[in-house]
Amino acid sequence: MSTSNIINPALFFADDNLIGDKVEKSVRRMKDLKGIFQDEAAFLQIQEEKLVYEVSSFLPVKEGTPGGLYFGITYLYPGKVGDEYFMTKGHFHANIDRAEFYWGLKGEGMLIFMDEQRKVWAERMFPGSLHYIPGGIAHRVANTGNQMLSFGACWPSDAGHNYEEIAQNGFACRLVDRNGVPNLI
Ligand SMILES: [Fe+2]
Repeated sequence: MSTSNIINPALFFADDNLIGDKVEKSVRRMKDLKGIFQDEAAFLQIQEEKLVYEVSSFLPVKEGTPGGLYFGITYLYPGKVGDEYFMTKGHFHANIDRAEFYWGLKGEGMLIFMDEQRKVWAERMFPGSLHYIPGGIAHRVANTGNQMLSFGACWPSDAGHNYEEIAQNGFACRLVDRNGVPNLI
């Protein structure tokens, strides 16, 4: 057996950074999150170019391919719009029965779930926390700390994203800061 068929991985982690030639990066700025936060006056006070979150992802197969997997790391900045924590847009999967794993890498936050009957609950995220998001459940993440929250995700390549439902109807509860404590109201 020669060593010529032993190669280095194409992807690796350095701390919570995903490194590799095929890593794609995307950003969401304040202006991409219009209508997500309750306090519109507070929203308008914030620079529309302000970064809210960035995503590094590895998408090895074409979107929609059955049986493949995608991998991503999200970096969600700390901050609030009024008393509501910075958060991701949130989505159901377009193929609604597809599940996903999230796991906490750095910082602290909350993974907010909502089922199709609009029942909402949340799990604390912290370095090492692992979260199974079943099919049929909308999900979004809020940064409840003072530093960057980073978390990993792994989801099926045929899950897709249905952002529309959440953009139109929101979640049934909001995660707000009440005297320094996150409250789901
Ligand atoms: Fe998802």
